Amino acid sequence: MADEKNICLRGSNLTKVFGFGQQKTVAVNQVDIDLHEGEIVSIVGESGSGKTTLAKMLLGLINITSGEIYFQGELRDIRTHKKKKEYWKNIQAIFQDPYSSYNIFTKIDSVLLDCIKMRNGKSHSEEKKIELMTEACSFVNLKFEELTNKYPFELSGGQMQRLMIARIFLLKPKILLADEPTSMIDACSRATILDMLMKLRDETGMTLIFITHDIGLAYYVSDKVYIMEQGKLIESGTAEEVILNPKEAYTQRLINDVPKIHEKWDLSTVDYSSAGILE
Ligand SMILES: Nc1ncnc2c1ncn2[C@@H]1O[C@H](COP(=O)(O)OP(=O)(O)O)[C@@H](O)[C@H]1O
Ligand SMILES: [Mg+2]
Repeated sequence: MADEKNICLRGSNLTKVFGFGQQKTVAVNQVDIDLHEGEIVSIVGESGSGKTTLAKMLLGLINITSGEIYFQGELRDIRTHKKKKEYWKNIQAIFQDPYSSYNIFTKIDSVLLDCIKMRNGKSHSEEKKIELMTEACSFVNLKFEELTNKYPFELSGGQMQRLMIARIFLLKPKILLADEPTSMIDACSRATILDMLMKLRDETGMTLIFITHDIGLAYYVSDKVYIMEQGKLIESGTAEEVILNPKEAYTQRLINDVPKIHEKWDLSTVDYSSAGILE
């Protein structure tokens, strides 16, 4: 087990309830989670299991119904706008829909400039700022010269998601939460986005929290896996432990849902009668 000292973010007994009375939804239910420096953690669960809600709680985007969050060993305090901004220098996110993350009427160069400002780069010369933005764009295979004066909606989904990674490259947070970052883009861009996130992790040593419904993807990318069902973390361990030797039936079901492209089709095992094919 990793050292307690290396825990950069800890959620203790986290609960989030939306609505009340008959409309009440317990989206996150008494979750305990420890995230260590530099590790890649996946949170896997089916749609509606509470993954995004948990991410938003960790990010400080929604109020917590009960429980505590500790950042670098201390109780997180984001009660003032200033403290929140300070916290967001350390923890950032990439969401499923890259267009939803910021104002679509903000030009792309100001999106990147804001990141430089956030990193106390106000004192940089104009040339230095352009150099930093160009470097960030080239990290994600975008050309800065072609992006200046463009608006987010002029980019494809894959390009937008790469721009979001360029933001992270500039911000260099300690923790990045990537919430289904590849689920809205084409398969071809998907692998590129994943590779870029891994490369960024390798270069910066940040903690990467990967949220996905795809347990196959989690196996591919992560050191540690948490399985989420109906607001609860029901199983956790190394990627190998959880995926090669699942304890819970729910985890097994998530594994069975992954198309096994590496296995030859064995038609003898298909139950045609239940599929209604031999009627
Ligand atoms: N703002 C909200 N108001 C009410 N219910 C919500 C809200 N956000 C999420 N929920 C509910 O909380 C549960 C978990 O949702 P979510 O965290 O989005 O799951 P996931 O990301 O795993 O698909 C779902 O039942 C969802 O309908
Ligand atoms: Mg979600």
